[in-house]
Amino acid sequence: MTITTIAHLLTQELKHTNIELKGWVRTFRANRFIALNDGSCLQNIQCVVDFEIMDERLLKRITTGAALHIKGSLVESQGKGQSVEVQVSSIEILGDADPEEVSKTILQPKRHSLELLREQSHLRVRTNTFSAVMRLRSSLSFAIHSYFNKNGFYYMHAPIVTGSDAEGAGEMFRVTTLDPKNPPLNEEGIVDYSKDFFGKETNLTVSGQLEAEAYAMALGKVYTFGPTFRAENSNTSRHLAEFWMIEPEVAFMDLAGNMDLAEDFMKYVISYILNHNKEDLAFLEQRLEQEDKSKPQNERSTMSLTEKLRFVVDNNFKRVSYTEAIEILRGSKPNKKKKFKYIIDEWGADLQSEHERYLVEKHFKCPVILFDYPAKIKAFYMRLNEDGKTVRAMDILFPGIGEIVGGSQREERLDVLKDKMAELNIPEEDLWWYLDLRKYGTAVHSGFGLGFERLVMFATGMGNIRDVIPFPRTPLNAEF
Ligand code: 4AD
Ligand code: MG
Repeated sequence: MTITTIAHLLTQELKHTNIELKGWVRTFRANRFIALNDGSCLQNIQCVVDFEIMDERLLKRITTGAALHIKGSLVESQGKGQSVEVQVSSIEILGDADPEEVSKTILQPKRHSLELLREQSHLRVRTNTFSAVMRLRSSLSFAIHSYFNKNGFYYMHAPIVTGSDAEGAGEMFRVTTLDPKNPPLNEEGIVDYSKDFFGKETNLTVSGQLEAEAYAMALGKVYTFGPTFRAENSNTSRHLAEFWMIEPEVAFMDLAGNMDLAEDFMKYVISYILNHNKEDLAFLEQRLEQEDKSKPQNERSTMSLTEKLRFVVDNNFKRVSYTEAIEILRGSKPNKKKKFKYIIDEWGADLQSEHERYLVEKHFKCPVILFDYPAKIKAFYMRLNEDGKTVRAMDILFPGIGEIVGGSQREERLDVLKDKMAELNIPEEDLWWYLDLRKYGTAVHSGFGLGFERLVMFATGMGNIRDVIPFPRTPLNAEF
């Protein structure tokens, strides 16, 4: 007989059939009821042991955390709380879990703070909250691939080790094999990277965009989905040093097309989980309601988790230019009453998350696409508008999250791009290949980057980005 999963069992009509299961004990009650979980779904299955005929030594080893192989039959449940249960005929202990040791961990079945769970990231996925979040994360990844696949995009693998700074922000992790105690030095006493592994300075990628552009300019429609790295020292609930990004890039598409694509895409992936992850979403919704109760009234969410997701799917994203947004923010209450940490008084100011959240949550009350930002606060590759001071950039802002997507139409004119790079002191040698793309059949093209963890935060209602990635990397933290 083959091993089945709880997810499979619970969808079966079959009763009284012989089954085999493997999983971990959540609780063992009254020497009779094992709540077994195998990770296939949120629910445990109740396995009923006939202790009168079981070996006592074996019964003692059925403890929280232990891994079991259970044989038995699926029957209608006698008790309340579940429709079916397993009448156990035999149990094999695959892996013991010493109760004394378990009591020191988060496996102990009681409420633990998210902070404590983070310290045991290798075990936290055994909890309901984290297993639900991680199943949703998996489902969202699948939905993303599915969307692009259905829409004629090719999946492109951008390199992880690069020699370029795609965002020009200098927030890179260096990759080197040089001996830190005794690096080769050049005549000026500076580390000589020509002696390094790649014969030049290299770093972990901050974005696969530049390489994706090269591929879009041959395959038409491509997307990347991979890890990206930022050595920005932002210890916030929305920043990771290692995060996953989805970056579609499309030849012959302008900024309006880019906005349409982003909106359609976001709606698709969110609808996907609404249709496929009902159980996990219902659990997380409840969790959020509980959490909300401990907050002051004015910080509580007015919508439930699924209402928020539905809202994104059912409503048009509001498209607003940066200039209009600045006008709104300037005249806003928190700006006049100096409630913002950063007061907006001039056109050209960079928007902080407090401003983004004001626009989305207080003013428009729906997802917002801001576009046509001042060139000065955006990356070098964005297409300059006719006004000479704004670029064809767009950011999508989501309630509770702020910026979730950042994208743009790219500068396809060689001379304009060169001028821009010169202005920002970006050496042409470093990006000679990127400039080449503007020499051989250049064309309008656009793309965007979706921060995957920010999407998972939105979809699960989790408030801290550290809780939606298996092993978070943040400043001063690379445990596990
Ligand atoms: O706005 P960003 O920096 O844009 C780019 O990297 C472009 N190259 C994308 C493109 O046009 N292909 O980053 C894109 C998104 C942000 O909107 C945010 O959701 C996420 O990536 N992001 C982060 N997520 C977690 N931790 C960080 N440190 C992040 N930095 C950006
Ligand atoms: Mg951005």
